[in-house]
Amino acid sequence: MALAATAEIRTHFPALQRMHGSFPVAYFDGPGGTQVPSSVPIAIADYLFHRNSNANWPFPTSAETDRIRHQARKAMADFLGGKPEEIVFGANMTTLTYHLSRALGAEMGPGDELVVTELDHHGNVDPWKALEDERGVRVRTLPMVPETGTLDLSHFPELLNDRTRLVALGAASNILGTVTDIPPLAQMAKAVGAKVFVDAVHLAPHRRIQVEDMGCDFLACSPYKFYGPHMGVLWIRSELLETMQVPKVAPAPKTGPGRFESGTVNSEGMAGTTAAVEFLCSLAIPDLGSREEKLDAVFSALQEREGVLFERLWRGLADHPRVHLYGPPPSEDRAPTLSFTVEGTPAREVSARLADESGAFLSHGDFYAATVVDRLGLRPHGMVRAGVGIYTTEEEVDRVVEGVRRIASEGRG
Ligand SMILES: Cc1ncc(COP(=O)(O)O)c(C=O)c1O
Repeated sequence: MALAATAEIRTHFPALQRMHGSFPVAYFDGPGGTQVPSSVPIAIADYLFHRNSNANWPFPTSAETDRIRHQARKAMADFLGGKPEEIVFGANMTTLTYHLSRALGAEMGPGDELVVTELDHHGNVDPWKALEDERGVRVRTLPMVPETGTLDLSHFPELLNDRTRLVALGAASNILGTVTDIPPLAQMAKAVGAKVFVDAVHLAPHRRIQVEDMGCDFLACSPYKFYGPHMGVLWIRSELLETMQVPKVAPAPKTGPGRFESGTVNSEGMAGTTAAVEFLCSLAIPDLGSREEKLDAVFSALQEREGVLFERLWRGLADHPRVHLYGPPPSEDRAPTLSFTVEGTPAREVSARLADESGAFLSHGDFYAATVVDRLGLRPHGMVRAGVGIYTTEEEVDRVVEGVRRIASEGRG
């Protein structure tokens, strides 16, 4: 199976028709949130216009709401390789992770230990660090190697012991693109009896995820990073989902994902999430086979296509003496996300000039991967970030390369 051509994919994204000055906008801000294909807002509007209800009542709009919610759990189960009843929806990854840390923390106390990393987005650090004050646990940190932008795995074994309750790892860095090989680390953590939480927010738009292969107990991602609406999804291994103590109001469901979803869920967002997964599946050529088979094919072709574009971007900038690139080179296993600095020009100014002079939207700052920016000594400005996505073209990559090179060549300092 193959992947639809980029030109065909682009026809589904109304946002790509936007102009900025004389340029069609080139969206490189996907790591902060991607554009959506028209089927996503259509599904959301269809829900709100025609099916808007709360759940579990014996009339059609409520029955349709029940079905839409179930379809969304099924779509995300297929997307992640889990079961529908293991899929929890929430406002975003960070909110879900805080909720989970509260739940897991209720069973922890002084003497217990957790492991986080320096490479992670703080959405996968601070909810766990909060347990230091709240529960008196000890949080240990796996360092990164600033020169390579990878985790210093040589220190991992010494952070684990029979008091380790949870290891929180990022599958891909949202700032450096580093992909961490989770399964062997999860295996080591499980060997000492720890639970494993994986932040797959940055990996999910670029790779096929199979929770069983990861070997984790919890995995979080955010549909708004893979062409869907602003939501978070948390997969919880069913044994834990059913048995964990969870902060919840008494009348809320006692079993299933509902026990984890405080209050009324965002049904329209769930409808939009199903549409995003369906959209990705629809890009498989031929459009045959199960959803899982289509996702396998789409992500394997996408990895290759995005890899080629990423390499073009990297090579286009790598030889400029005033442009500094961070994170693993294209030859390494990495996500197609490039963060860089331009000597003498603050990241915010680079971002603003790329928008105005090239019509390219690139984000800047620390992207909440604050420790990475600290370790790289890039305060106060942080970095500029270019995310390659499903709608990125060679022309757009070349436009960014030319724009950055021009800024760097004119730069002061
Ligand atoms: C790697 C990573 N983890 C966590 C988050 C937080 O996600 P959310 O906005 O859904 O809370 C982000 C968002 O940028 C991210 O990139």
